Amino acid sequence: MRHVRSISELGRDRILGLLNLADRMAEINSRPVPKVPALRGRTVVSLFYEDSTRTRLSFETAARRLSADTMNFSVSSSSVNKGESLRDTVETITDMGVDAFVVRHKSAGVPWQIAQWTTAAVINAGDGAHQHPTQALLDAYTITRSRNSQDLAGLRVAIVGDIRHSRVARSNVEAFTALGAEVLLVAPPTLLPPVVSHWPVEVVHDFDSVVDSVDVLYMLRLQAERMNQGLVPSLAEYSTHYGLTPRRVARMSVDAQVMHPGPMNRGVEMVVDPAEIRGSLIHRQVTNGVAVRMAVLFDSLAVEPDHSALREEAR
Ligand code: NCD
Repeated sequence: MRHVRSISELGRDRILGLLNLADRMAEINSRPVPKVPALRGRTVVSLFYEDSTRTRLSFETAARRLSADTMNFSVSSSSVNKGESLRDTVETITDMGVDAFVVRHKSAGVPWQIAQWTTAAVINAGDGAHQHPTQALLDAYTITRSRNSQDLAGLRVAIVGDIRHSRVARSNVEAFTALGAEVLLVAPPTLLPPVVSHWPVEVVHDFDSVVDSVDVLYMLRLQAERMNQGLVPSLAEYSTHYGLTPRRVARMSVDAQVMHPGPMNRGVEMVVDPAEIRGSLIHRQVTNGVAVRMAVLFDSLAVEPDHSALREEAR
């Protein structure tokens, strides 16, 4: 079963294969009718136990462009409120005959648990502060394709902000380094994981000391909902030291790029309006997210190994 649960489980070759497949999907998305029958008859269920706008809609759009049927499980109106366990929910949906679960959950490791209870493919759409592999794939895709390259060799990428609570940071560190980038983590000590010494990164506390020497600034949301009190003195102080301000944007090198996974906290980590940053890739991240998730769903679910279903338009 081709699960997509973490970047390390994928490894460099499968990452590169998925990025190449995403090029095919981006071509489909540029057609007047952006839809192919590749996953006709397959069913993808979104199982989101945490709030989400872009990830859930991005997966649903991706599934529909490949003609899969989609089911949407919403915790607020489900039997979870009658005390049904995650296992019973997964087994019930599996009995209906689904082919993939797209899962978001506040606890790390849930996609691995679910894989033990179902025969369907499991795609991790974010588990606690652990992994968010499709975000990392779409970010790697966005950087490489904006530079007409296949990998990230020679690039210096700074991930800035609340690393401690960020599954995006964990997946991106693995994906970016697997593709050859040099990764810097820029954060106050309180917003770093307790142990980062084994991570393949350089840790920096002074944002201003690196802002002019990086190729990509990857800004993270300050995750107030995961934060116990006291990790930052105040939002204003956080912004002063770690926010992307107009003054810092002015110091970036001319071809440096800015990314953010969304949702953004304007005035906290994004003090400058991203529309005013020449090198902003933030809109491209969202657009590319659909193509990359199409690649992931196709790779996990397609029966035709020759990819011929990608050529034909859906009728
Ligand atoms: C991220 C997430 O939920 O992990 N957002 C996303 O998927 N686009 C990052 C975040 O919430 O800060």
